[in-house]
This record gives sequence, structure tokens and C-alpha cells, in this order.
Amino acid sequence: MKNILIGVSGGIAAYKSANIISMLKKKGYNVKVIMTKNATNIISPLTLETLSRNRVYVDMWDEKPHYEVEHISLSDWADLVLIAPATYNIVGKIANGIADDMLTTVISATEKPTFFALAMNVKMYENPILKENIEKLKKYGYKFIEADEGLLACNYVAKGRLKDEKEIVDEIERFFLYSEIENYSNLLSGKKVLVSSGRTREDIDPVRYVTNNSSGKMGYSLAQAAVDLGADVTLVSGPTELKEPSSLKKFIRVNSAEQMYQEINREFKDTDIFISCAAVADYKPKEYHNEKIKKAEGNLIIEFVRNKDILFEMGQIKEKQFLVGFAAETNDIKENALKKLRKKNLDMIVANSAFNMSSNENAIEIIKKDETSQEFSQKSKQELAYEILKVVANEINNKNKNNK
Ligand code: C5P
Repeated sequence: MKNILIGVSGGIAAYKSANIISMLKKKGYNVKVIMTKNATNIISPLTLETLSRNRVYVDMWDEKPHYEVEHISLSDWADLVLIAPATYNIVGKIANGIADDMLTTVISATEKPTFFALAMNVKMYENPILKENIEKLKKYGYKFIEADEGLLACNYVAKGRLKDEKEIVDEIERFFLYSEIENYSNLLSGKKVLVSSGRTREDIDPVRYVTNNSSGKMGYSLAQAAVDLGADVTLVSGPTELKEPSSLKKFIRVNSAEQMYQEINREFKDTDIFISCAAVADYKPKEYHNEKIKKAEGNLIIEFVRNKDILFEMGQIKEKQFLVGFAAETNDIKENALKKLRKKNLDMIVANSAFNMSSNENAIEIIKKDETSQEFSQKSKQELAYEILKVVANEINNKNKNNK
């Protein structure tokens, strides 16, 4: 398992580092912690020592005897460095070559991927000096996890709050996943990716609707993975409970299949890759009742009419676009997926069992236009998203080579 070195600097959010360390340990990572002197005023080293099950480092001149040059051995040990929370001060010090304690010395001495999870008062967050420091550090490959908006310790409701701990841990895990992909940073760079995700909702009257149990997890994971691999991503999403992926070019929320069609159709022309992951309702009620339908004697019959098949329509007008469809089936998965691949004029289809629709994991089979296929056993949807995009990038490269 990977080794993660956590740096804790002295913002009030330092107490949240305990949660991050605990989550990482539960996932099986090895964790060591370095704190600044200021951070120890906010949370006790003993807490982080107990959670990380390792000694916590604060002082360069610790009285405990050691035979190693500790700031170098810690950096060698780490696969990744995460500073959470990262204060205005620590960003400023690193950007300006200051290494005056254990944490800043280790960060300055390491070549390992280093993430700063920012947290500070909004006035400091908006200070142009911080922005300049961040831009400078980004040029040297440092990565930043932006702060969220919320109630700050200083009582302002504004940007500056440490990103949700789970989201920080997710971001670190995603980094491990995509950095294993060769040339990951430019795998999809310059590509415009359009993803549809989630379920649609077809209204019957002001209080009732029909929908399905798609969670949107696969589509959101694909959108996020495409961003991580360098693409410009537009996500068109039906209703979901999920948080918007970070750094999208555009995020469009819709309810009905008709609205989804309008948005996809508008975006499609300027798209290189369209991944149709949404579970679009095939039917909608023939009429919408402006008033709530009253209970009456006997049965209620609602007539349904066909919705447009968005992916089929895009298959008809496609030019250069690479089209990826999904087939969630309860039976004869591969046969049904192949029929859709042909009928909808797709470049690729991802076949999977409809029973995995709202779970965090899935097993899939990717079938290409030439009808060769590749199976992927049970994995998280996040991991599968990278696998799918690797195949897509490969196909596009091969297509380009053959066209030359
Ligand atoms: O034909 P079926 O609905 O099973 O095909 C599934 C694929 O078609 C998925 O990629 C889904 O997003 C897409 N689809 C669509 N519009 C519909 C129905 C399905 O784009 N109305």
C-alpha cells in the first residue's frame, strides 16, 4: 500500500486532519505526519500519532536520537505529500524558498507529488499575493485542492473552508489511479468531452413523476476522470444526489429526457467524444396534468409516448465525434449491447448488468466498433472510468494514425 506524508499547518481546520488521517488509515494507506509548531496549538500531536500509528514530527531538533537525515528519509519514504490544511503562510513560504521548520524543509526537499489543501479566511484567500504564489507553485508541478464556500471560523460565510475531508481523500485516491496511466496528463488534453449522466424525470402532474434508479455515479466518475486526464468536460446531468465534479468546463442540470436532448444536441457539434451514460427514460406521459390528478373510483390509466433516443439521434448526425453508449441489461447482456452498438452507429459500447445501477462498483465489458471486446471484473466506478477512457483514447489515437 502507498505511503502518504501528511503536513498539518496551523489553521483552525487543523483539527480536520485527524479525520483525513483516520480515513486514509481505514483504506489501508501508511501515514506519517509532520506538524508545524502552530498546528500543535490547535490539535495535539498525540491525537495524530494515535490515528496514524506513527511518531509525529514537529521539530527539526528533536531530542530523540536518530541516525538518519530525517527530512530526507521522510521524503524518500513518501509516495505523496498532502498538506491539509495548507495556510496562507505555508504556501507563501514554499513559493519563496523558505524552509525554517521540519514541514517546510521536507516539502522543499521532496520531489514527490505534493498537494496543498487550502484553508484560510476569505480575505487571505482572495489576497493577490496568495494567487501569485499558487500560480508560481503550479508551474513547478505542485497541486492545489481549492477551498469550499461555507461558514468560516471567523464567522464569514465565504470561500476558505477546507474541502470536505472525504473529497480530499477521493482526490488523492484518484491521483494514484490516474498517475498509473502512462502519459496521463495529456491522454485527453485538448479533447472536448460531453458526458450525459443520471436518470431523467418525466412529470405526470405537479407532484408526481416517473423515473428510474440510476444514481449517476458512473457518469460523474467518467466526467471527473476525463477532467483529470486533461479534457474540457461538459456534463449534462439528470437528477442525482451527487456533488458536481471539480473543474468542469460546463455543468448543465436537466430533468426530462426532452430537456436532456435539447442540451446534448446543442453541445454535440463542438464535441470530440460523447459518452452517453444517462439512463434516459424511453417513455413519457402523453399529457402533463397542470393540476394534481384526483383519486377516483376504478383504475388510473396513463398513456405513455416514446421519448427521443438521444444517442441514436447523435449517431445519425455524427461527423468526427467518437460515440460511446452504455447498455445496462438484466439478461442477454452482450447480445443486446451489440444490437445497440450497430443500431445507434456507435464507436464503442459499455455493457453491464442493470443490477449494478446504483452501486459503487460494477463489472463491465467494453465492445468496440469492430465488435472485439475486453472484460473488466468488479471494480469501483472510479477505476472503471479510467479504464474506459484509456480504451477511448487508444481508439482515437489509432483512428488518427490510420487516417494519416
Ligand atoms: O436502447 P437503450 O436505451 O437500452 O440504450 C442505452 C444507451 O442509449 C445509453 O447509452 C443511453 O444513455 C442511451 N439512450 C439515449 N436516449 C434514450 C434512451 C437511451 O440516449 N431515450
